[in-house]
Amino acid sequence: MTIERLGVIGGGLMGSGIAEVCARAGSQVTIHEIHAEAAEAAQARVEESLNRAVDKGKLEAPERELILGRIVLSTDLNDQADRQLVIEAATESEDLKRKIFSDLDSIVAADTILASNTSSIPITRIASATTRPDYVIGLHFFNPVPVMGLVELVTTVMSSPDVEAKAGAYAESLGKTVIKAKDRAGFIVNMLLVPYILGAVRMYENGVASREDIDTGMRLGANHPMGPLELSDFVGLDTMKHIADVLFEEYKDPMYASPPLLTRMVEAGMHGRKTGEGFYEYG
Ligand code: 3HC
Repeated sequence: MTIERLGVIGGGLMGSGIAEVCARAGSQVTIHEIHAEAAEAAQARVEESLNRAVDKGKLEAPERELILGRIVLSTDLNDQADRQLVIEAATESEDLKRKIFSDLDSIVAADTILASNTSSIPITRIASATTRPDYVIGLHFFNPVPVMGLVELVTTVMSSPDVEAKAGAYAESLGKTVIKAKDRAGFIVNMLLVPYILGAVRMYENGVASREDIDTGMRLGANHPMGPLELSDFVGLDTMKHIADVLFEEYKDPMYASPPLLTRMVEAGMHGRKTGEGFYEYG
């Protein structure tokens, strides 16, 4: 599946990573951001990631220029008009995503596929904001996008099999392995990962072990690249709590309930690496 013209809505950590891997695979990418400052920050994130790849000898400098030449930043959603596939990676808010999809629906061509990178919001609710729910699917990437080899492909009862096949083939052309999930909160990975992380937070909150020993336990005892508390700082405690809340709302199972410590840390603005403080402190 060749997508020559791709749109990415939101150039944050996930959106800039998605834009980078798509441009690396040869697509022309237009990243939409809400204002010029955010667009500059998105551009800087992509450049930093590509510089890192050049420094590590994984990418030649001329190739870096070619990839950057395929990425355009825009603050006008109308610039998405000629896109064949648009991947939305905006803030995890249902109202915001519904608005973006509704706006895109009236801008892009009738056969443009609209995908969401949401980690928790049902795709059905997003798709129902458009007049083309059969052309709306979930493409859930993992952080850091250039490194993580997985994409979850999420279909609804309204998705067209042809759209599913095209989107899946495109994700595979990015070098990702695609797994398919039905439209249930958490899909596959977060439904398993989030209760595991919440269990680690409860263990720490109850004083069973130190943060270092919990993380070392899972790094050396289960061969995970990061322990659960490090990983939640990496993903963002606000994001972790948000996903937990959505899972709890969907399944009403206490194992998905945010532990009081996580809730208090989020309320205190301790969101992990991005704010400099979470379960650990960052310089
Ligand atoms: N961009 C590009 N490459 C990166 C990168 C980035 N942001 N971060 C790390 N890398 C590359 C490095 O260049 C390095 O490549 P090399 O081995 O070829 O030299 C490799 O990844 C390892 O990086 P480092 O040596 O700097 O550091 P680590 O060995 O500590 O690895 C890590 C960092 C890849 C982040 C690793 O710790 C890891 O895999 N952690 C777990 C990540 C994870 O579980 N992500 C999923 C989160 S859940 C999610 O995203 C779902 C959402 O819905 C919440």
